[in-house]
Amino acid sequence: MKRFSVLIVALTLGVMLMQCGGGKDEQPTLKTIAPAQKSSTTTQTENVASPAIEYDLANGEAVYKKFCFACHDGGLAGAAKHSDQARWAESAAKGTPELIKHVMEGYQGKYGMLPPKGTCMECSEQDIIDAVHYQLKMGGSLK
Ligand code: HEC
Repeated sequence: MKRFSVLIVALTLGVMLMQCGGGKDEQPTLKTIAPAQKSSTTTQTENVASPAIEYDLANGEAVYKKFCFACHDGGLAGAAKHSDQARWAESAAKGTPELIKHVMEGYQGKYGMLPPKGTCMECSEQDIIDAVHYQLKMGGSLK
């Protein structure tokens, strides 16, 4: 009879140990999340630290005249007029990488809604970069 209860204790311990083992399996899941968050922070740092952005004002003007002018020429729907220096200075203060991101992804600000890519769906990111610089130039925020 004694031997039987020893066996039960041993079995119970065995089950408990298995449960502990199961608990340990959760750790790797947590670890896989950490590197993913790290890499997104790295990308942001790279954007901020990126060296002078290259742009072509002539191409920027061409893009502006095809798409951006629709809202920015007359200040439609809350868009900054291309000549509104105060508004462009306010935008420029956010930093050019931030402005490029806002145009690429679309942006709801306190003045209105800037649609993704400023409606130029066939524009490349470089086209948008050029157009943003052209607008900053027109608004007196690019020397
Ligand atoms: C349908 C109208 C519309 C068109 C077309 C448009 N925009 Fe805008 N844009 C806006 C509005 C509205 C805002 C103001 C958003 C705010 O700050 O509230 C804005 C703001 C901006 C800003 C400042 C963003 C900021 O964070 O301060 C930039 C830069 C800009 N537009 C660039 C462009 C470029 C480049 C194009 C063309 C490729 C374009 N926009 C086309 C409506 C437009």
